[in-house]
Amino acid sequence: MNWEHHEAEVLIIGAGAAGLRTAIELAQRGVEPLVVGKRAHGDAHTVMAAGGINAALGTRDEEDHWTLHAADTLREGHFVNQPQALELLTRLAPERVLELAAWGCPFERTEDGELEQRFFGAHTFRRTCFVGDETGKAILETLVKRADELDVPRQEYLMITEIVVGGGQALGAVGWEGSTGRPVAVSASAVVVAAGGCTGLYRRNSSRAGENTGDAMGLAWRAGAEMRDMEFVQFHPTGMVAPEQMAGELVTEAVRGEGGRLYNAEGERFMRDYAPEEMELAPRDVVARAIARELDEGRGTDKGGVYLDISHRDEEYIAHRLPDMYARFGRLGVDIAEEPMEVAPTAHYAMGGVKVDFATGATSVEGLYAVGEATGGLHGANRLGGNSLSETLVFGQLTGAHLAQWVAGRQTPVMQDEDIRRRLERWGRYSRQHGQHSPGRLVQRLQTLLELRAGIVRHGEGLELGLEELAELRRDADDLRVHTTPGSKYFQQVCNLEFMLDTAEMILWSAKRRRESRGAHFREDHRDSETNWRKSIVCRRREEGGLELITQDVGEPSEEVRRAIERGNGR
Ligand code: FUM
Repeated sequence: MNWEHHEAEVLIIGAGAAGLRTAIELAQRGVEPLVVGKRAHGDAHTVMAAGGINAALGTRDEEDHWTLHAADTLREGHFVNQPQALELLTRLAPERVLELAAWGCPFERTEDGELEQRFFGAHTFRRTCFVGDETGKAILETLVKRADELDVPRQEYLMITEIVVGGGQALGAVGWEGSTGRPVAVSASAVVVAAGGCTGLYRRNSSRAGENTGDAMGLAWRAGAEMRDMEFVQFHPTGMVAPEQMAGELVTEAVRGEGGRLYNAEGERFMRDYAPEEMELAPRDVVARAIARELDEGRGTDKGGVYLDISHRDEEYIAHRLPDMYARFGRLGVDIAEEPMEVAPTAHYAMGGVKVDFATGATSVEGLYAVGEATGGLHGANRLGGNSLSETLVFGQLTGAHLAQWVAGRQTPVMQDEDIRRRLERWGRYSRQHGQHSPGRLVQRLQTLLELRAGIVRHGEGLELGLEELAELRRDADDLRVHTTPGSKYFQQVCNLEFMLDTAEMILWSAKRRRESRGAHFREDHRDSETNWRKSIVCRRREEGGLELITQDVGEPSEEVRRAIERGNGR
């Protein structure tokens, strides 16, 4: 077998905001990374991030401060987030957002030319900066342009299938070019996984098909990295309900931030019964569970949703502040300035992921780094809306800065041809398999399994059953019918399936182990939060195969953040 061999000082897997911000920092410091992505360049999952990016700039609410942003993040994370990480996030977000604005990101401005800020759920103050309701798209475009100015090398449509580790150190990776099916190997002094989360594991999710399929987690896990907080999966309260092919697509929280109200099919503004003070801007887990309950108890619409109404706002205001919502629903014949949208919860974000030292991005494997949604531990049991875009910039910059020093003077390691060949052949074999099961069907079965067994409401028995069903799925996955060119879309489903099976297993085991309810993890058989569960669950690979779970303390916030929590600020 022949393959194309590249060398890079740093290989970055994932060309979304996290990967690109890491690459930009490296390039600014004179290091040449290689950025690879499985989709077209500029079309990463970041474009799906809608409503905004958080930074305590205090444009509208002068009292705001990073410690208050940190306090909100911790409270929303139910105090199992890693305090040092979220303090870095909240302290550095203003600098990163202003820098992005200086690079040309067209943020909405106030009449005084300051960056405008809107409310998002569970925030004490208005601190979410935005570009209409297409903030992620605007941010990614800005980063792509900045990376191009710095001549950052990139390769699109490259599906990385395995990170190569030798002597306990990451040496590079192998994969397949989508357009030609040609195998590729990249040697690198450091490998960064920035390939997003795993909510594609759920039947109804807010990502596009083939996105957020656990690639980053699967790659890092197989390379030997530890994972944490895998049981915490965020369900966004408002996804689309119809038409079927659009079910799950995000209806941005910005609708509620701009005053949107939720009603059940009986016309009741039901959030009064669940969170009378915060109403529609209560934490995401609270709103998502409230909607799920309304649906369960028969107060949903015929299509299985509730109503989200912004029609009390002026049409011009809606079209300006929520242009994508206005246009998208308009195309479906729903004028949101006149009538409500139908919405229901959708799997949106994985709080769990690769365990890292957030100041550097380092994982438990030397030379292997992770950044962005791929990581776990920052958001705790529930992510504060608007923090994910801030996370990509803050930790991309920190990881890039650290790596620039780390790779200085290092020789790019050599991957043995035999090592490369063995790995490529294992994946290449898939392209000639004539078994019983189609990978696409298995992915669908897995999505149904997760939705049912590890969804918004969980139960110990259901999780147990989920693990048994997963074992059966694994057996079926040993007997695939593939027969396609490596690198093709169909081949990608096989890769996705492998990563998804690993990731699903970690979610199910961790959710079973956490015998309490906390944030997005709600157990019908353990409905309360337990003080002795203020811990995180870490998944570790056993030498002999399989996984072991260990619990770890999460640490305490700094004195200044503790004081901000105690002050409460009306929450
Ligand atoms: O609803 C939204 O616009 C989502 C934002 C986020 O998840 O941060």
